[in-house]
Amino acid sequence: MNRRNFIRLSALGATTGIIAPRAVLASASGMAGGVYYTKDAPGRWSKKVGGHLPNIEVSKSSAGVSIEVITSHEMLGFDHYIIKHQVLDNNFDFITERMFDPLKDKAPISEFSLGNYSGRIHVLSVCNKHDTWLNIIDV
Ligand SMILES: [Fe+2]
Repeated sequence: MNRRNFIRLSALGATTGIIAPRAVLASASGMAGGVYYTKDAPGRWSKKVGGHLPNIEVSKSSAGVSIEVITSHEMLGFDHYIIKHQVLDNNFDFITERMFDPLKDKAPISEFSLGNYSGRIHVLSVCNKHDTWLNIIDV
């Protein structure tokens, strides 16, 4: 590759990185179904969707938005359990999380107050055996 083409391609790469939303980059690189799993892209865990996809209930009040996250997964001590729920904003930046103790928490249920946040949230549920599952909702 000559120097002029190298510079042109480098500039194109830099520009793409700036203007492409991260969501586009994530799906374009095949991360769903490989790095993390969704209802539509369960990858190697296609029989595990029901027990791992985080279900999200939204409620709004004068205090703001709050969500309840439920993963229909057993808590079988440290052998098999949901490690955490995590909430990310529209840009995949961290908002909050709840860690679970498999010896104390009987079910992976969490509640989060999101204040005045509005827009898309990404909710992750992490199993110690079946990896990370993503669900998305607009609040
Ligand atoms: Fe699991």
